Parts: sequence; C-alpha cells; structure tokens
Amino acid sequence: MDPTTLGHRIGGAWRQDGEWTRDTNPADPDQLVARFPMDHDGTVLRDAVAAARAALPEWARTPALQRAEVLFRAGGLIAERAESLAAELCREEGKPIAEARAEVGRASAILRYFAGRAADEIGHVYGSAQHGTRALTLQQPLGVVGVITPWNFPIAIPAWKIAPAIVYGNTVVFKPAEATPLLAARFVEALVDSGMPPGVVNLVFAPGPVTGSALIGPSGVDAISFTGSNAVGRRLEVAAAEAHCKIQLELGGKNAVVVAEDADFDRAVEHVLLGAFGSSGQKCTATSRVIAVGSSYRPLLDRLTAAVAGLRAGDPLDPATTIGPLISADAAARVSSRVAAAVAAGATSLARTDVPDRGWFHPAVLLGDVDPGMAVAREELFGPVLAVLPATDLDEALAVHNSVGFGLSGAIFSRDLATVSRFTHAARVGIVHVNGQTAGAEPHLPFGGMGDSSSWSREQGRAAELFYTQTKTVYLDGLPEAGLFDHTASGR
Ligand code: UN1
Repeated sequence: MDPTTLGHRIGGAWRQDGEWTRDTNPADPDQLVARFPMDHDGTVLRDAVAAARAALPEWARTPALQRAEVLFRAGGLIAERAESLAAELCREEGKPIAEARAEVGRASAILRYFAGRAADEIGHVYGSAQHGTRALTLQQPLGVVGVITPWNFPIAIPAWKIAPAIVYGNTVVFKPAEATPLLAARFVEALVDSGMPPGVVNLVFAPGPVTGSALIGPSGVDAISFTGSNAVGRRLEVAAAEAHCKIQLELGGKNAVVVAEDADFDRAVEHVLLGAFGSSGQKCTATSRVIAVGSSYRPLLDRLTAAVAGLRAGDPLDPATTIGPLISADAAARVSSRVAAAVAAGATSLARTDVPDRGWFHPAVLLGDVDPGMAVAREELFGPVLAVLPATDLDEALAVHNSVGFGLSGAIFSRDLATVSRFTHAARVGIVHVNGQTAGAEPHLPFGGMGDSSSWSREQGRAAELFYTQTKTVYLDGLPEAGLFDHTASGR
C-alpha cells in the first residue's frame, strides 16, 4: 500500500470504503500528509464490531503470555521505526520533534509494560466461613472494547488503551481522531507486523457521532474507553448507561501550579514553561494557571515574562522550535478569541511570541492580572496560554486551585514539607506533582482525574486491569483440607 494512502483494518484485511478525506500538516496546511477513507454511515464500524466479536473467543482463550508476545514485538518494532514515526507525527500533529520522539518512545514502553503484566497474578485466594470451602477470584476479559482516542497523543494514547485491552484478552474496535489517522494506522501496522491475529484490533476512520451510535447499543461493544472533550464524553456516558456498556472517560483539565514563597523560582519557571507550552498547551495535563503565593508573584511574573518571550514558534521538524502549530484553524481562532475576551475583561498580556505567517500557529501568551472568576481562569483552552493569579497565602491558593470543575493534575513548588503535605492532601486532583510540571504520565502509575476530568476510574498501571477485566468469584466447596492453612482457621 502507498504509505500515504490509508485504510481501515477489519479482520485480517485493509479496506478503503468511504469518502476519501485529506490529512494535512498543521504547520503547512497545503501539505498533504495522507489520504484516508471515512465511514460516514457506520457500515465499516459495524463490520469492525462483528470482526472483533468473531475474534474474541480464540483470543480470550490464548494464554496471556502468548498474547503478550505480540505486544513485546510491537513495542520493539515501534522502537525500531521511531525516527520515521516521530517525523510523521510531527507532520501530522505538529508537536516539536523532541516531543514527538518522546511520545513514540512512550508508546513503545507502554506496549512492553503491559506485555510484562501478563505474567502477574490473575486473582486472589480467600478463606471461607464454611469448613471445607476455599474461594478465589479470577479476572476475565470484558469482551469487545471500543477505543476512541484524541489527536493530541496520536500514538501514545492508542497504546495506553489498546495494550491493556488486548493483553487482558479483549478484542478492540479502534476509532482514532479524524486529525491523526496516519499514526493510528502506523500503530495498527506494528501490531499486524508483530503477528496479531486477524480481528483482535480493528481500525476504523469515522466521524464522532456515527461512532457513538454504531458502537453503543444492543449489537455494539461491551465497553468503551474514551479520551477527549467533556461534551463528547458526557454524550457517550449517557448512551453507555442506556446500553449497559462499561465506560471510562478521560476528559479535560484546568491544571494549576501553586508556587509558595520559599520555592526555587528558577526550577518552578522551567517546569511551568514545559507544562504550559509543551505541545503548544494541547494536553489535558497542561499547566494553564500559575497561582503565586504572596511575595512570589513579582519574581515569578518577571521570570516568566522573559522566558515566554524566549520561546520559538516554527517548523516542528526544526530542533530549535519550542512552539508548534495548533491542530486546526478553528482551534487557533478559538484560543485567540478567548485571549481577546480575557484582555477585554481586564487581564494583561505580558508576553506574546512571534509566529510564522503560514500554518495554524497561535503565539505563546502570558496573562497577568487574571481574576479567578474570569473564563480564562476556569475553562480549558487547549492552547499556549498561561494565566498568573496572585494569592495572599496557601489557604487562598488552595481555594483558587480547587475552584474549577476540572480536577486532573496539580503541582506545588515549595521546599517546605508541611506546605507540600498540605497541598498534596487538599488539592482536588487525581495527580499531584511536587516540584515538577503538571504534565507527564508513567505507564505503571494510575492516571485520571477528579471532578469533571474523568469518570472515576483510572487508566494505566494496575488500574487498567480493573477496567479491562471483570471479576469472577469462585467458591470451591467439598475440599476437606480447605481451611487447614487459612489464617481464619485456628492456629497450629
Ligand atoms: C501527558 O501529560 O504526558 O490527552 C499525558 C491528554 C492526556 C494524556 C497526557 N490524556 O492530554
């Protein structure tokens, strides 16, 4: 197949039915990155569910360590192909090359991590109140899982959902974001080239609304894992409840860094910059608020103003670039209108980087004089905009920190153990960073948010097993020896 002409993957075959759609470079929108077919009527999605359903019994019966081999090999292939994948990621999604390389490395690491989990225990053994009974639990596959992923991590997020889904014995219908079909196809190619049996992961390019109605319903999937916007996530959640479909949502963030008066300001600024402007702020974990306690406000603002002015927007393939384009013209226009509204409401634009004429760039912007009630301090922007808010003391900083609906990630910069401990316990977020940026996630650690940022469940690490499996409790009766060695039985 021509590398820039993509197809759906259904069962063991690539298919190209649907309307041909252009995948373009956000840094240079005239540049075609790939062509792909879009399933506008849900036919391919329904075929994908049927293929995943047909592949399920065999895959669920395959020993977990054998399933893991596919993941190990795919992790290796992605590492071998890292340089070309990173360049394609840059051209398709627009993040700077160093970040693209890191993301490809992360996808490879996630596959290998979940391959390793296949050797773990699959349940627990219990005693019983009945003499002669022992009980145990087994974690069994859920069935067919719908995986709906965003464009901002076009290979890492597919990896972090699909790797656990398949290692625990499920089969998958994978619907990536319309803006990043190429990296989705590359991910599936790596699995196919690693010996994944037909139908275990099926890839469909389809619009969002068609996906929801084709996947959720009586002949749909058994579970959905979704990362994306709150509006779409809530609609899926309602439809899933009607259909009794298990669902997991990773949604937005309005993440804040609290800087205490005793903080190392240079370190804080370095990490705030990474958190706020990495991927041009297009991460659910991006830092979009800095809450400066007491006397830290002025030195922080001065350092941040100089640092933001030093960022460089340009071609993401150029290693000197620190700010890439946003994903689309609409995204750039939306961020720009929010910044204009903030300035009209009294915020001050303290620094703005220059941007190229071509492409969907938005300058990195630093806003001072931001009030916690302003929209710019409450709503997710998904762009390179950082608001600095003053707070008189840690209590006020915590109140401002926790005043938004989102609760994904938060950070505290301080050298004082009591301050760190207070923040760690009181911050209403699923992830706390101490003296580090709000973004970032390691595959073995639970990931997810409080409040409007998720649907209670967590992804990654051991948390992934809980979502992608269901528990069966087994009572083993009629065992005369049961209870002999149980701690519930009387001593020696
Ligand atoms: C990270 O911070 O490195 O869509 C990962 C997102 C998150 C992943 C963030 N689900 O931005």
